[in-house]
Amino acid sequence: MKNIILAPSLLSADFNNLQKDIEMLNESEADWFHLDIMDGVFVPNISFGMPLVKHIKKIAARPLDVHLMIVKPERYIKDFYDAGADILTVHYEACLHLNRTIEEIKGTGMKAGVSLNPHTNVHLLEDILPYIDLVLIMSVNPGFGGQKFIKQSLKKIMELRAMADISNPLLTIQVDGGIDTSNYKEVVKAGANALVAGSAVFNSDDPKKTIEILKNAY
Ligand code: DX5
Ligand code: ZN
Repeated sequence: MKNIILAPSLLSADFNNLQKDIEMLNESEADWFHLDIMDGVFVPNISFGMPLVKHIKKIAARPLDVHLMIVKPERYIKDFYDAGADILTVHYEACLHLNRTIEEIKGTGMKAGVSLNPHTNVHLLEDILPYIDLVLIMSVNPGFGGQKFIKQSLKKIMELRAMADISNPLLTIQVDGGIDTSNYKEVVKAGANALVAGSAVFNSDDPKKTIEILKNAY
């Protein structure tokens, strides 16, 4: 039995009653809270920023897994640390000096992740892999919840797992976008050990049950 880290994405939560959804997650088997930060430049959508992260931190009973879909994320590492992020993931495509950015994230004590857009080849991560805690494979084009899983992602997950076996066996491979109860098993079989799910959890009739199902891929 493999232990899957399940991180519901609050992008699909009810923003009119966020506290209720956070309390539901606190009572569920969810491992992390996935927070999607979008700047309207790196992705064609704007979500929320530090003030909301701070409020969520006050009542969230699990680590905050912050996914930055913003240009030049190095500008805001300390701000997200201060707001309560536990894991900070930046996009490969948004960082000119990725090694330095990763060092800065780790210097705060947060775990450091790197995310790849669907078109970005996993082999570009070869030289950074030993230094990071997590890779987030985007299985949709980032910017919106509720999109369809891109099948090609499975090949990328397999290739990345083979690379990690050599240079970073403890690496967390997280997959984000279009994950639901119809495809989570093949994603885990390909080598992922962490799943993000937004609409599959929050649009479900029984979110806690859906979380339980998604965590048990074997
Ligand atoms: C998309 C975000 C995802 C999104 C996932 O840019 O990074 O975390 O909320 O939503 P679903 O699971 O609905 O595809
Ligand atoms: Zn995300």
